[in-house]
Parts: sequence; structure tokens; C-alpha cells
Amino acid sequence: MNTEIIKIASLDEETVRNLERAAKIIKEGGLVVFPTETVYGLGADGTNASAAKKIYEAKGRPSDNPLIIHINSPDDAKRYTYTNETYDAIAKAFMPGPITVVMRAKDNVPSETRASLPTVAVRCPSNKIANKLIELAGVPIAAPSANLSGSPSPTKASHVIDDMMGRVDMIIDGGDCEFGLESTIVKIEDNGDLTLLRPGKITVEDLGKITKNVKIADAVTDKLKEGETVLSPGMKYRHYAPKAPVYLLDGEISKISDYIAKRAESSHVAVLCYTDDVEHIKACAPSAFIYEFGDKENELLQAHMLFDILRDADKKSFDEIYAPLPRKEGVGLALYNRMIRAAAYHIIRM
Ligand code: TXA
Ligand code: MG
Repeated sequence: MNTEIIKIASLDEETVRNLERAAKIIKEGGLVVFPTETVYGLGADGTNASAAKKIYEAKGRPSDNPLIIHINSPDDAKRYTYTNETYDAIAKAFMPGPITVVMRAKDNVPSETRASLPTVAVRCPSNKIANKLIELAGVPIAAPSANLSGSPSPTKASHVIDDMMGRVDMIIDGGDCEFGLESTIVKIEDNGDLTLLRPGKITVEDLGKITKNVKIADAVTDKLKEGETVLSPGMKYRHYAPKAPVYLLDGEISKISDYIAKRAESSHVAVLCYTDDVEHIKACAPSAFIYEFGDKENELLQAHMLFDILRDADKKSFDEIYAPLPRKEGVGLALYNRMIRAAAYHIIRM
């Protein structure tokens, strides 16, 4: 398949003409990759079963892992799901923005889009290009992250090009995604209780302002037990894992740097390192490759960089990758959730 790439910096007249062409591709059942404020999405008409099927093929995604439908006005959720007051409160507080809600689906959402589940995931992105594209298409756009299944979600156009050239009709290059981790996913129960299925920029603490009854699904922080059923099918798949084993280190920097120094004597080691610790690690382990990971407190910057670093590390064929263990509060929980998977749950405490 021939993939056209269009670059968009702002929403001028030429851009809108290009987006009209992209919208036409969607309406005709084709595939368009577009930027969002979280990660790039691989979009198709969410009401068209055969278009949804094409998404699974292009990604190599198992067909039991449902898609998110993207709308451009929070009210549109009422067309496709049975919303309630909790939805209205979430929409008012956080939409458009990096949050996805899972609710009971109406019959007009094809089972291909929701992988035969009784529920569907809905998200109203704040990214201007995404929003305009959905408006012009006139249909909800089903879109998973635009990576090949198993690799980190793409946060730059170059990541999309690496994974999706020849697999989609069009790639809209809108520059780097602002946040860099996928949206918060929350299930809204019929009684208004919330279950966090995937942490993101909208935090548990933020959701706590909507209702006191916010549960965190076990799979957000812990490995699934043998035979355990998951609330969100995506949580059971291997994710974000680079080729080299990743270890999360928890402890004082002096102990961490001694440990890395030893490992770096015999292995090609990469370290994700908070800015304050860079000099220390460099002095102890001069042969280690260092990815500067921003200030310890700057979790938004870490979120922005994480997937790009993991993709880069894959190209450099390290033997081992070390990273700091994130905290489980605030945006830290989103980092923890992605990094613990990248590390296949390996934490070294010292
Ligand atoms: O930020 C994002 O959410 C990005 C951008 C493109 O919007 N999209 C994204 O989609 O991350 P995807 O498909 O890579 O991840 C969606 C996750 C999957 O783990 C899937 O299992 C889960 O949402 N999901 C979708 N529908 C669901 C449902 N009805 N019930 C529970 N989980 C659902
Ligand atoms: Mg994904």
C-alpha cells in the first residue's frame, strides 16, 4: 500500500484541505494515522466493521483487544453509549483531554470495534488536528495507538513511519505528542462508581474529585495471576518491552551507581538517569550509556520522553537497561504502569 505523509503545523486553509482528504479516506473505509495529545492513533471509521478489521491487520493486533472510539464533542458519547451523571461530571471536568471512559455500548457500535464486549471505550481528544479530523469525517474514529502490536506507542512522526509505512493510507505528521503516554482509561459503572483500568495524565487524585468510589484495577500495578480475567483486554498483552531486559532500581543513588558500575564492567549497559544523578553515574560507570530523564519531580517530562527512549534503546542493542522506580502517586502511577511492564516486573531493591 502507498502511504502518503502530510505535515501539519497549524490549522490554516491548506491544512484544512489536507484534513478533508484525510476525512474522505476515513469515510471510504481507509486508515489514517493522526496525532493526539497523548500518542499517535491509527484511525478508521468506528461504525464500519470492515474498516475496524483493517486496523487489527495493520497493527498485527489480536482481535480480542477492543478499540477506543474518538469523538469531537463529549455529548456524542450519548449516541454510542448509555451515559450517566458520572459521565457528565467527567466530561465537564476533563474533556476534551487525555481520558477515555468505558461504558455500556449501544447497538450501533459494531462488535469488531469493541471486540464483542458489551462495553465500548470513548475518548474526546484535545489535540486540534485530531478534533478537526473527527469533525470532518462525521463519524467516530476508532483508533488504537499507531504502533505495531508489542512495541511502545508512537509519540513522534518518525516512530509512526518506522512502524506503519506501507500499512496505512495516510500519516498526518503533527509533530511530537504533548503528553507522551496513552490516555487514562476509566470504567464508569452503572451506579457511578469508577474503576481505573489504565493510569495517565488525568490522575486517580483527579478522579477522586468526581467520586470517592475510585477503584484501581489490580493489573495497573501488579502482574496478572495465572488464569485471572482482566477488565481491560490490553492489560494482558506484553507491552512496551524493549529487546534488552529492563530493571527498575529502588534505593539510594550511591548504592545504585555502585551496582551499575559493576554491571557496566562486563555488559553494554544503558541507564535512564534523573538529571541530578547524571554526574554521579558518569563518574562511577563511565562506560554506561546515559539517557538523561529530567528532574526527579518532573514526571510530565519523563512521560514525554519515555517511549522515545525505549525505541532508541532498541536500536542500540544494549545488554541491560536500568531505570529508576517511579512513585505510584500522581502522574508517577502512569510511569510506573508503563515501566513495570517494560521491566517485566523486575524491581531490584537495594
Ligand atoms: O491515548 C490513547 O488512549 C491512545 C490515543 C490514540 O487515543 N489510544 C490507545 O489505544 O492507547 P490502544 O488501543 O492502544 O489502547 C486502548 C486500551 C487497550 O488496552 C484496550 O484493551 C482497552 O483500551 N479497551 C478498549 N475498549 C475497552 C473496553 N470496552 N473495556 C475495557 N478496556 C477497553
Ligand atoms: Mg496501544
